[in-house]
Amino acid sequence: MATMSWFLVFFLSLFLIATAQPQQFNISLNSVLTPTSNPPSWRSPSGRYAFGFYPQGNGFAVGVWLAGPSNRTFVVWTANRDDPLVPADAQLLLSSNGRLLLQSRVQDTPISDVGVGASSASMLDSGNFVFYDPFSKIIWQTFDSPTDTLLVGQRLSTGGELFSSASETNHSTGRFRLKMQSDGNLVIYPINTWDMPELGIWNTATNTLGNDIHLSLNNDGLSLVNSLGSYVHNLTEGLTPPNKTTAVIIYRAVLDFGGIFRLYSHHFENNGSSSMTEEWPKTFVHCEVKGFCGLNSYCFQNDTGADCRCPRGFDFLDPVQKFQGCMKNFIEEGCAGKRENKTYYIDSMKNTVWEDDPYSILFGTNEQGCREACLQDCNCEAASFKDSVCRKQKLPLRYWRRSLDGSATSLIKFGNGTWASTEGFSKTSEKGLSPRIMIIIIALMGCSCVGIVVSGFLIHRHRIWRYRRIIETTEKGLTCEEFTPKPFTFGELEKATDGFKEELGKGAFGTVYKGALLDGVRMVAVKRLDGVKEEGEKEFQREISAIGRTHHRNLVRLLGFCAEGPHRLLVYEYMSNGSLADLLFRHETRPDWKNRMRIAVDIARGILYLHEDCETPIIHCDIKPQNILMDEFHRAKISDFGLAKLMKPDQTKTFTGIRGTRGYVAPEWHKNMPVTVKADVYSFGIVLLEIICCRRNVEIEAEEEEKILCYWVYDCFHAGELEKLVTFEDVDKKSLEEMVKVGLWCIQDKPSLRPSMKTVMMMFEGTANIPTPPLSSFLNSP
Ligand SMILES: *[C@@H]1O[C@H](CO)[C@@H](O)[C@H](O)[C@H]1NC(C)=O
Ligand SMILES: *[C@@H]1O[C@H](CO)[C@@H](O)[C@H](O)[C@H]1NC(C)=O
Ligand SMILES: *[C@@H]1O[C@H](CO)[C@@H](O)[C@H](O)[C@H]1NC(C)=O
Ligand SMILES: *[C@@H]1O[C@H](CO)[C@@H](O)[C@H](O)[C@H]1NC(C)=O
Ligand SMILES: *[C@@H]1O[C@H](CO)[C@@H](O)[C@H](O)[C@H]1NC(C)=O
Ligand SMILES: *[C@@H]1O[C@H](CO)[C@@H](O)[C@H](O)[C@H]1NC(C)=O
Ligand SMILES: *[C@@H]1O[C@H](CO)[C@@H](O)[C@H](O)[C@H]1NC(C)=O
Ligand SMILES: *[C@@H]1O[C@H](CO)[C@@H](O)[C@H](O)[C@H]1NC(C)=O
Ligand SMILES: *[C@@H]1O[C@H](CO)[C@@H](O)[C@H](O)[C@H]1NC(C)=O
Repeated sequence: MATMSWFLVFFLSLFLIATAQPQQFNISLNSVLTPTSNPPSWRSPSGRYAFGFYPQGNGFAVGVWLAGPSNRTFVVWTANRDDPLVPADAQLLLSSNGRLLLQSRVQDTPISDVGVGASSASMLDSGNFVFYDPFSKIIWQTFDSPTDTLLVGQRLSTGGELFSSASETNHSTGRFRLKMQSDGNLVIYPINTWDMPELGIWNTATNTLGNDIHLSLNNDGLSLVNSLGSYVHNLTEGLTPPNKTTAVIIYRAVLDFGGIFRLYSHHFENNGSSSMTEEWPKTFVHCEVKGFCGLNSYCFQNDTGADCRCPRGFDFLDPVQKFQGCMKNFIEEGCAGKRENKTYYIDSMKNTVWEDDPYSILFGTNEQGCREACLQDCNCEAASFKDSVCRKQKLPLRYWRRSLDGSATSLIKFGNGTWASTEGFSKTSEKGLSPRIMIIIIALMGCSCVGIVVSGFLIHRHRIWRYRRIIETTEKGLTCEEFTPKPFTFGELEKATDGFKEELGKGAFGTVYKGALLDGVRMVAVKRLDGVKEEGEKEFQREISAIGRTHHRNLVRLLGFCAEGPHRLLVYEYMSNGSLADLLFRHETRPDWKNRMRIAVDIARGILYLHEDCETPIIHCDIKPQNILMDEFHRAKISDFGLAKLMKPDQTKTFTGIRGTRGYVAPEWHKNMPVTVKADVYSFGIVLLEIICCRRNVEIEAEEEEKILCYWVYDCFHAGELEKLVTFEDVDKKSLEEMVKVGLWCIQDKPSLRPSMKTVMMMFEGTANIPTPPLSSFLNSP
């Protein structure tokens, strides 16, 4: 009964509006619309939705909008949203051959990809603008190509995406996307990121639902629905119940310009009043969105909205597009230059956090102590203080945002304005470098600072395995987590491995055996080191405790060690799924593209941690697929880090020695140049190309031009034939090209040209643009 009367009321109101504004509901061929015509739009029967020109900026765009409440309009669809706006004398024509054309003085642009053949069009009350063929069949509809909005009855099918608008008033494609993944997960990503939920901003954690799931909006709210039509996951519940006087409720789900997916309800009352309510998620604000603000900028929120701001000493890369981030407006000497009594200051921002791990942590200090620690440390560019812990950081700061628990304070170092640079970055900007490229330049400068610190030191000491911990003596900074590997006796390990019975592998540093601790409960890998430096047990233990303190999910954990007489052994967690080499180079075990991308990101994360997030950068020196192990969850972990320092010089030479071909070893090893973290970046680049192509860097049996992988990849890239590299499977073209570009940057001959691992991570995450790699010098070298 109730439903019946509802229906009547609804029908009546339709009727009232319809009679009040007589108009044609079916748009016939040769109909014309202009921004100034009367009526200026084609309306739906209820009058609530309209199709036509709407004003934006200094011109007009074509789209569908919802009118109300009040005089507000809500654009729900935009045609060719990234095309330039049109002037007031443009017109829309449903041509006699059944195409909808946007005609301006310059050219005619088709609105839909419907082609020819429509016999009429109609703006429906659902908000769907449709084209009919002569048999009244719908041949094209706006519901099939959503922009940033879903309406009731519309669905986002498997693989489909919504793209946010650039701002509340500019409906061009913006910075975020919502993807209905084929694994059943619904994820919001920054626009340039690959489809890996770890890189996303928000997800429904429904990746176990399996394929053929779509997102649907109906009057019960937003749900994930399977191919049989069953609701498998509800995003919303408890929607505002209709008011007694409510005639119509219209729901609208939109991925807003700041990366939040929201559901609104519009209540239209009988007596003409109306209201809009945010139904879901209600509590989430823009400043909590990871990536709302660009590098080095922080998010400011008040009642009217969120805004990105630069800290003191920093300027916007682009004052018009504040989301792009900020850069220093002073030149910092870092640790490279002579410190010419230049003064630094610290500015603080309460209740904010950022993404990356610190390179050094000080415990048991206060905010003042944290400020001073940063001011006195030439590496420190920012610090985060919380609960008497001070975390020192290098730029750039990523995902700097408001923190929910109010105790974190961000401290930013900046220089005295009187010597602020008028050259440098601002000048390059005048030359027309895009802000994206500048971010990379800044990032590269940041990393070359690290490089200079390390290489300066190495030049001094000539060889990497000699270098001592730089900061240790100057401060009591404790890196990462306190964790001391357990000392074992040789007898214990002999027993654990059953007399070194089962050999797992042989590497540059020694032989690895399978073992079990705790009476056979915990599986471990025991490595017997060969050719360790003949230094005291103390020295060895010191290095071991440094390695033991590094703790990251993409590094193989060192559990214990043995230094007894001549014996030097290390006990690692056991990796049940072998090495990346086993996985990659065998036909049967070859992981699919998505998993390969995940593995690449895992490895990059692990190396980044070694390079930047520990007090003293650890140069691995031997990154290769054999040293990357897979745990039970198929997560990639790096092993053997920190060992290069323990080895006798001649030993190190052996394992880095060239074996007739370019291997994983960076060219600077052979040129007697200082070796920096960039040597690992080179090795990572080679490994990345191997991951992409699932083959070894050198394959003697391959065709002549394919023998050396990096040359072949470069040739294919240059010829625009990347699909040749992965003929064995169907791979997403865009991510393939991006992976290859990152790989080619990493293997540049000149260490300074290679990106830092942080930049590599930013390229993977889409925070940094990936420029086309230069025609490499490596093509000229042997
Ligand atoms: C809208 O945003 C796009 C993308 O950010 C930009 O290129 C365009 O100039 C903007 N248009 C207006 C009218 O502001
Ligand atoms: C809506 O627009 C009309 C005509 O422009 C105006 O008369 C009316 O006051 C407006 N109503 C509101 C609530 O702004
Ligand atoms: C509009 O045209 C469609 C298809 O030709 C038809 O089904 C519908 O009834 C028409 N509507 C009106 C109001 O004439
Ligand atoms: C989701 O909501 C629908 C409609 O309200 C309900 O029938 C269904 O049981 C719900 N499903 C889940 C998984 O909660
Ligand atoms: C119903 O809507 C009217 C007008 O929007 C509002 O004044 C009234 O409080 C609402 N009643 C309920 C029960 O929400
Ligand atoms: C519509 O009715 C609601 C209560 O049901 C009232 O609060 C509101 O003022 C009315 N609006 C108009 C324009 O009469
Ligand atoms: C809120 O922030 C915006 C943008 O920064 C600013 O224009 C506005 O004046 C602020 N409003 C209040 C109440 O502070
Ligand atoms: C830097 O400061 C120190 C001590 O304050 C002073 O002795 C030295 O002359 C200064 N150097 C320069 C270049 O001003
Ligand atoms: C910057 O340094 C100059 C010269 O040393 C000094 O006069 C000035 O007060 C300083 N500026 C600030 C903001 O402290």
